[in-house]
Order: sequence, then C-alpha cells, then structure tokens
Amino acid sequence: MSIEEADREDGNRPDDTVMRLGSEIYATQCAACHGPEGKGVPGMFATLAGSSLVHARNPTTLIRLVLDGARAVPTDRYPTPVAMPAFDWKLSDAELAATPSYVRNAFGNDAEAVSEEAVADIRGGE
Ligand code: HEC
Repeated sequence: MSIEEADREDGNRPDDTVMRLGSEIYATQCAACHGPEGKGVPGMFATLAGSSLVHARNPTTLIRLVLDGARAVPTDRYPTPVAMPAFDWKLSDAELAATPSYVRNAFGNDAEAVSEEAVADIRGGE
C-alpha cells in the first residue's frame, strides 16, 4: 500500500448519506452567499473551494464559524461589512456536522469528515 492510500484510509471521509444531507443544507442555507460551486463573490463572500480554513486538519475553527457566524472587518471600499449568520439556533448537531463535512469534500476539497461529537463538544463548551 502506498503512503497516500494509507493516509486516505486513516482519513475518514463522509459517507453518501452525510454528503447528501450536507449538500441539501448547503443548497438552502449557504449557496446564496457562497455560490453553488463554493466560489463565493470576490470581495464579499469567501471562496470555500480550496480554502485553508475549510481544509484545516483540526476542524474546530470551521465548526465554530458555522455555529457562531462571522462579520468581515469593514474597509474603506466596503464600509458596511458583510456578515455570515450563526446557525447554532437553526441546525442540529448532525446537520452541523454534515454541512462542514460536505464542504470539506465538495468543490474539489478533500478532508476528513466532521463528527457529530465534535460539534456537540464545541457547542456544549460555549
Ligand atoms: C449571508 C451570507 C452568508 C451565508 C448564508 C453563509 N455565509 Fe459563510 N461567509 C459569509 C461571509 C461574509 C464570510 C466571510 C467572513 C469574514 O471575512 O470573516 C463567510 C465565511 C465563511 C467561511 C470561511 C472561509 C474562509 O476561508 O475564510 C466558511 C467555511 C463559510 N463561510 C461556510 C459557510 C457555510 C457552511 C454556510 C452554510 C451553513 C455559510 N457559510 C453561510 C457569508 C455567508
């Protein structure tokens, strides 16, 4: 077995059920801003394809971001900062695991699945 294959086997990828749930939530909750292909809108909405935050080995920042939302820093060019809404009140742990899992494995991304337990821990720790 090559090292690459071994890595992939260690790396636990989301199964079809999780990918389907994640893609449904992405289409209804995220695509309006980040685009159906995760390309975002330049200068306004972050690109998810190839994003290092999305790919991070430890998904804590990604989970926190989807739980809490985010506000971009205002600049002279964009004095009214665009914001990302929080989803903690809206989505279950399973949904909040499936959506980042999907985003980490859609648009050419390839990273380990996010577990429901990780979401529950981070939500509970707040
Ligand atoms: C109303 C628009 C809006 C919606 C809806 C939205 N976002 Fe965002 N998102 C943003 C904005 C604006 C930023 C950039 C915030 C910043 O610059 O700090 C962002 C940043 C991100 C980032 C960080 C990317 C990077 O590389 O910095 C990720 C990941 C992300 N969003 C995922 C999602 C997911 C998953 C959903 C759906 C559950 C979602 N977003 C829904 C507006 C949105």
